[in-house]
Amino acid sequence: MASIYRLGDDGVALLVAQCYQLVDLKDLDIPPSSILKSPSVQTYIYNELFNEGVLSPIIPPETYRLRVLKALISRIEASEDWDPEEDEIIEPLITALTILMSLPKEDSSGIDSPPLLSFVKYTLPSSTRSQTTKSIATSESRGLIYGFGSTGFRTWEAALHLGTYLSCTEDGRALIQGKRVLELGAGTGFVSLLCKRHLGAKSVLMTDGNAKLVDLFNSTCLKENKLADDQDIQGEVWEWGTALAQEDGSDASVERFDVALGADLTYDTSIIPLLTDTVSTLFSSHGVKKFVLSATIRNEETFNAFLAACRDHDFRISKIQYESPSFADQTGFFHDTRTPIWTYTIEPS
Ligand SMILES: C[S@@+](CC[C@H](N)C(=O)[O-])C[C@H]1O[C@@H](n2cnc3c(N)ncnc32)[C@H](O)[C@@H]1O
Repeated sequence: MASIYRLGDDGVALLVAQCYQLVDLKDLDIPPSSILKSPSVQTYIYNELFNEGVLSPIIPPETYRLRVLKALISRIEASEDWDPEEDEIIEPLITALTILMSLPKEDSSGIDSPPLLSFVKYTLPSSTRSQTTKSIATSESRGLIYGFGSTGFRTWEAALHLGTYLSCTEDGRALIQGKRVLELGAGTGFVSLLCKRHLGAKSVLMTDGNAKLVDLFNSTCLKENKLADDQDIQGEVWEWGTALAQEDGSDASVERFDVALGADLTYDTSIIPLLTDTVSTLFSSHGVKKFVLSATIRNEETFNAFLAACRDHDFRISKIQYESPSFADQTGFFHDTRTPIWTYTIEPS
């Protein structure tokens, strides 16, 4: 009889964590068939990824799971030591495959339709090596193409990089522990959720100019992260260049924060003046001492325009010397590191 599978360093937990983050199939670290053909490993995979009744609602979309399951089964069956007489794919996985194959295809969203949302679960780095995995869940549209409107409906590499820095370094953790945190242009709220749920922030205000994102954060994401009853985290609409208003519409200039965060906000030169004016307001009217920003450097000129605008405001800027591990070495918050991602601290003069 098969022994009960125990999480080990065999890459199975890593694979599950990557699947919950909807990592592209071609980038998944699929363990060798010698591991996958073990019935107890297959049972673990079934329970973690395909046991819909128990796992819903935070479970990868059906089309994604179907592709993963097909890839796993063909990896197992293509192996040289696969013996169809001796070895087997466990019944629940076969049933899951049959059900997933029989489902109608999800309707992919057209240009004008709202983005198709699904839950994405992000595992904290190193969690896949321990028995108690820490994670956060967002609701997003992973298929979004950059610059194609609604960009906040997915979590971008710069946010995952910032999350890795904040959770994996002492300096990063010290920035958040016990602090009142505000996030600008938070999109899915990934960084805000991380700060409140796992990094010990005293309070978090997630802000974005897009009201739909803020609604999604307040209505769905807080609940799925067990933060619905936490008075110290909420989302608010804040469009740069306007005053931060409280939920009831009153002036919020009394609101104080210690640190502000931002990820992937410097992609368009036309919004840079609004962003730096807003950072200036955070320093002058909201008590913020430090703004920490991560940016994917798709176009260095655009980022330089941001740095120049910071100098015009007399901000002190310094680059944090931190690089995320390469994709192959990541154990959580999986992201592509081929395009450079830079992180800066920006402080009032
Ligand atoms: C590329 S997304 C980054 C989202 C998130 N920080 C991340 O890295 O995953 C840029 C975000 O900035 C927000 N944004 C853009 N212009 C803004 C403005 N003028 N005021 C407030 N938010 C804005 C967008 O709604 C979007 O959520």
